[in-house]
Amino acid sequence: MEDRADRDLRAAAMTIGIVTGGGDAPGLNAVIRAVHRAATRRGMRVVGFRDGFDGLLHPETAVVLDRANTAGILGRGGTILGTSNRGSFTVKTALGTPHTLDPSLIERVRATMHQLAVSTLVCVGGDGSLTIALQLAQAGIPVVGIPKTIDNDLSATDFTFGFDSAVAMVTEALDRLHPTAYSHRRIMVLEVMGRHAGWIALYGGIAGGADVILIPEIPFDLDVVARTVRAREDAGRHFTMVVVAEGAAPAGGEVRATLERDREAKLGGIGPMVTTELERRTGKEARCVVLGHLQRGGAPTNTDRVLATAFGTTAVGLVEKSCFGAMVALQGSHIVAVPIADAVGAPRRVSSDYYLLQVARDLGVSFGES
Ligand code: F6P
Repeated sequence: MEDRADRDLRAAAMTIGIVTGGGDAPGLNAVIRAVHRAATRRGMRVVGFRDGFDGLLHPETAVVLDRANTAGILGRGGTILGTSNRGSFTVKTALGTPHTLDPSLIERVRATMHQLAVSTLVCVGGDGSLTIALQLAQAGIPVVGIPKTIDNDLSATDFTFGFDSAVAMVTEALDRLHPTAYSHRRIMVLEVMGRHAGWIALYGGIAGGADVILIPEIPFDLDVVARTVRAREDAGRHFTMVVVAEGAAPAGGEVRATLERDREAKLGGIGPMVTTELERRTGKEARCVVLGHLQRGGAPTNTDRVLATAFGTTAVGLVEKSCFGAMVALQGSHIVAVPIADAVGAPRRVSSDYYLLQVARDLGVSFGES
């Protein structure tokens, strides 16, 4: 068995490379800081790759992380390393089978790692980035994954960091929209992110007291939503708060999206559509707010800072134990290691027996089901 002294010697020879990929999420800097702190305490070095996975092709842009460049970043939004959800490594442009990474790209990653003496990559990302990480791991590159996405739609982990901050933003938006909706007796529609799953809409909608929550998992009927508005009107409630996830669609209808070649489809447009249709069907004035990237920017909440930090330090522990091809995950109150392959593939959606659906229904919230 390897003794402590051997382990210390091996750690001293180790350089971790860290890459943040995909859309940014509050907490990425907390992860970077945690990986640096935990690695340094074990005698390891950390090199940060710039601008997502394409940074692996440009060793000249990599930066050695130190106390100075990782100080004061715990509560800062975005990622000091930069990120991208397009580029040479894009393997996912839609749901279903991902593209396979070009072998020449993998060889260039190996060359970069060799040049910078990086022995392991810590890849922080959502479904797309972790699918890239998985393919690098399958090619024999030592990789550890850390799950990140505001959408919270990765399998094998109860929560991803970034989600709580996005929900906080949705809650604040609803708190601000409520008084104006009430004062003008209007319908207020808030479009939030949530490409394949309605976690943000569900949690944010409940936290902010929405009357209608429309999510990708439950195809909706606008006549039913209009009936909810009229029933509220009859009960003396002259305003209605609607939260709609960008990936929600009417029964038999399509998700609103613009297709692009080298990235996933750009979603958006469902909020304005729901607004126009509710105005037409109820005769009430309606307004739409698309919350967009306000959900992604800004400081991480304390929950996200803690989760991101725990993910970061645990990932370094996995590197030390040579537990490659694994991803850190939150299961119950434990941070565990799961195969990256378990996290990617099918998105984790709100299941029909998820307890918060019943909580919402008990409050009288409508999901627009016919
Ligand atoms: O996956 C996270 C997410 O925020 C989705 O909800 C959204 O569809 C997408 O990223 C938008 O990405 P961007 O505008 O950065 O291309």
